[in-house]
Formats: sequence, structure tokens, C-alpha cells
Amino acid sequence: MATSDAVRRHYERRGRNDPCKATRTTSPSYGVRQGSNFVKTTLINYACHIAPTNRKGTVRVLDVGCGKGGDLQKWWRNSAKRIVEYEGFDVSETRVDSAQARYERMRGPPRMIAHADFFTADMVDVPYDGANTSIVSVMFALHYGVPDAESATRLIQGFASTIRAGGCVIGTIVSIERLCERLRSGRGGWTNALCTTRCEEWPMTDDDMREYATRRYGLRYTFSLEGALDACPEYNIPSIFFETLQCETGCDMLRMPFSQWLDSQEMQRTTPVHVCTKMCPDAPYDTASREVLALYDVFVLSARSVGTY
Ligand SMILES: C[S@@+](CC[C@H](N)C(=O)[O-])C[C@H]1O[C@@H](n2cnc3c(N)ncnc32)[C@H](O)[C@@H]1O
Repeated sequence: MATSDAVRRHYERRGRNDPCKATRTTSPSYGVRQGSNFVKTTLINYACHIAPTNRKGTVRVLDVGCGKGGDLQKWWRNSAKRIVEYEGFDVSETRVDSAQARYERMRGPPRMIAHADFFTADMVDVPYDGANTSIVSVMFALHYGVPDAESATRLIQGFASTIRAGGCVIGTIVSIERLCERLRSGRGGWTNALCTTRCEEWPMTDDDMREYATRRYGLRYTFSLEGALDACPEYNIPSIFFETLQCETGCDMLRMPFSQWLDSQEMQRTTPVHVCTKMCPDAPYDTASREVLALYDVFVLSARSVGTY
């Protein structure tokens, strides 16, 4: 079975069993979800501040692997008072239907999303073009779509061709260095109260690990998260992916662990207060949630000098 097929089926299956809003707060991985949402909110807010607008004065967003549209509200409420034209797609049709339904429910009083469109597609096969996207957003999805160097080349070309001058690419990604450290400590597997990750390609030498973190594609591992994912296949994204994307887009790049990103955003105090109080980064997350969140990095590729605005 092709990778994207395996991932699509996994997400379709999960989509049917996902907890409803009422039970979500009692889910064991609620802390991970809260922490991820807080990071995504600050990232979206940041991107909306630095992104260029189009002739209509709106910010055009492409949400790659949009899932059930969980970020729609974030784009709506944290767009630095800019109107967002949103387009989201996902490899899972069920997820896209849920995202569309969520958007329909959002209709009502004036809001910052001018328009939203959804479609089903694999991120590697989308005919990206037009050079008219202000922000490409890839939240927790890149590690599914790039199993080999060929997919990486296609995706990089696609992103580069759709980004308008001055635009940016934002997202969250597993740190392969930190994942490999944990796999090494558990001889190819790592587990805590919430999460299990396993890699069949074990034992690996330090050279192999360095290669997968920097230049080589194709390290397959599985990731389970209590109440959310059951041994779903993921792939490493070596740093050469971002270096090539930087060259193709002429962008600067910023990449750092979630905790460091939140510290930097707190210093700038840009995220609206109501969001900070709802998803306070100092909330007493349990150790297991913190360990999961510590696996991820934030990245921003931007034509502007990143880090300030
Ligand atoms: C962890 S979810 C994240 C969803 C959303 N971005 C968020 O942060 O809430 C990953 C999503 O990526 C989608 N996905 C996986 N592989 C994909 C691919 N090759 N092309 C497009 N979407 C993909 C999955 O179906 C799933 O909805």
C-alpha cells in the first residue's frame, strides 16, 4: 500500500471514532492538544503580521493537510485584523468534509475569514501555482507527505511556485535529532504514558542518524498517541528539505523547539490576551504531555528578516 494511502486510511478510520467536543477535554492527550493549539495560534498570529496582502488587501492562506479544519478559528481570530482568504486540503476526504461542515457552522456575523474553500488531495500531487499565496501553513502534516527525495523535490517546487513575493511558509515538524535520541535510549522504540514511537530500522549508527537528520530521506517510524493515533507511519524530514526550500524561495528561515518559540512570542506579547489566558503555556501540563510536545519544532520561512515584525 502506498504511504499516503496508509495514512489516508488511518485518518479516515480515526475520523469515524474521534471524540466529540464534550469528551475531548477528558481525553488523556488533552494537554498535548492544548499545547499544540497554543503554539499554532501564536504561529498563525505571527505569520499574519509579516505576510503580504494581495490587491484586495486580504491574506491568502493555503492550509496543507488541514485535517478537520481545527485551525479555521485560529485564522479567523488571530489574523492581526487582516481578512483571510482560506483554502485547505487534505488527503482524507472524511477530514475535508468535516472541515467544510465546520466552516459552514462558522457562518454568521462579520468575521475575518472572507472565504474558505476545501478539497481532497495529496500534498505532493497538488498543482500548486499562481504565485499568489501569502502563507502556506503545514501543521503536523509534513512528516506524512515526504517519504522520499522525489516527493520532497515535487513539494518544494510546489511551495516555491505558489508563494507570492514576500510570502511565508509556516508549520510544525518532528525534530529527527530529538526523536533519534529517544529511539536510541529505547533501542528503536520509545514510550511514555501517552505516546509510543517505533522504528524498524534499528540498530542505527550515529552516522545514520546524522544522515537522516540532515540529508537522507526515507526513515520510517510509527507514532501512536493515546486517543488520537494508532501506529500511524511517519517519515523524517531532513534539514536539506528546508535548505532547498530556502534556496528556491529566497526566504530566511527560523526553526526552534516549541518551548523556545513560546518564550520568544511571550517576549513580543503579540497573541491576544484571551488566547493566552485560555491556553496558558505555563499551565501545569503533565510530564507525559511535555515529553510529547518537546519532540516538535516550529519553522517559519519568510522573505522578511524573521524573528521581528
Ligand atoms: C495530525 S493531522 C493535522 C491536521 C491539522 N493540520 C491540524 O494541525 O489540526 C495531519 C493531517 O495531515 C493529513 N495528511 C497526511 N498525509 C497527507 C498528504 N500526503 N497530503 C495531504 N494531507 C495529508 C492527514 O489526513 C491529517 O488530516
